[in-house]
Amino acid sequence: MEYITLNNGLKMPIVGTGTNTYGKENNEYNGALTNEIPELVSALELGYRSIDAAIIYRNEELVGRVLAQSTVPREELFITTKVPGNEVYISSKKATRAAIDNSLKNFQTDYLDLLLIHFPIEDKVQLKNTWEVFEEYYEAGKLKAIGVSNFGKNHLDELKEFAKVKPAVNQIQVNLKEPNKDLLAVLKDEGITPVAWGPMKAEAHQKEVLDEIGKAYKKSGAQVLLKYQIQRGIIVIPKSHKRENQASNLDLFDFILSAEDIEKIENL
Ligand SMILES: NC(=O)c1ccc[n+]([C@@H]2O[C@H](COP(=O)([O-])OP(=O)(O)OC[C@H]3O[C@@H](n4cnc5c(N)ncnc54)[C@H](OP(=O)(O)O)[C@@H]3O)[C@@H](O)[C@H]2O)c1
Repeated sequence: MEYITLNNGLKMPIVGTGTNTYGKENNEYNGALTNEIPELVSALELGYRSIDAAIIYRNEELVGRVLAQSTVPREELFITTKVPGNEVYISSKKATRAAIDNSLKNFQTDYLDLLLIHFPIEDKVQLKNTWEVFEEYYEAGKLKAIGVSNFGKNHLDELKEFAKVKPAVNQIQVNLKEPNKDLLAVLKDEGITPVAWGPMKAEAHQKEVLDEIGKAYKKSGAQVLLKYQIQRGIIVIPKSHKRENQASNLDLFDFILSAEDIEKIENL
């Protein structure tokens, strides 16, 4: 595994696993919760240590139980979760503290590695209150890093007006359908690490080119796509319900894409 050092010195695995459809009937985002997550068990067996969760995925407690029951020590895990912008979680500082306390309980832990604001909060007072609670828990050591998700430049600028702690990451969509290049450049300037959600998404004609490029490296198109992301310093959190795909999504560290291939992908 390779790591990226975040702007506060914390090391985050460059590949993690998403969880948004884990532990749900038919692997559907809105599916009823089941009582088990074999995919998470297999991800841990394969070596995944970074787990991307969120309160709105409804499965935090189940994900937390699988992690707690595994043989992987807590200090080896990198647990991310996200507070949504719904009134129930951000209407007051008390509500945000209750949300974080509940996530800590769900993960059966006394600290989270990374907590994110899931979506921009348009109300400035609520945004400030929420971030101040994040900072409070960060200063107390209950959050090792704090960040945001789906924030554009305007949202980052708003946060800058009062933030004492700079966001460590911005989790945004980055893939061949949505390259998000301007925002990636902003994040680079600001020293905020991008984490790509939906990193596997590509059009059929793009997948054909990725497969073709992969032949020379004996890698699949999916592996080429993930490597393209991490080689640019972007953390990825692909999600798969299949063990073989989970394994292949981790098998990215024995090849380097050439400058020509990177350019080919850039131009897709
Ligand atoms: N912050 C946000 O707002 C936000 C939004 C969306 C997602 N997320 C996070 O990001 C994570 C990943 O995003 P995502 O789940 O939307 O999309 P994704 O990881 O880009 O794609 C998942 C799809 O790719 C397939 N796949 C995975 N590995 C593959 C491989 N090696 N070869 C071929 N197909 C492969 C999976 O199918 P199989 O199961 O068949 O392998 C699945 O259908 C989520 O789980 C969630 O934790 C965050």
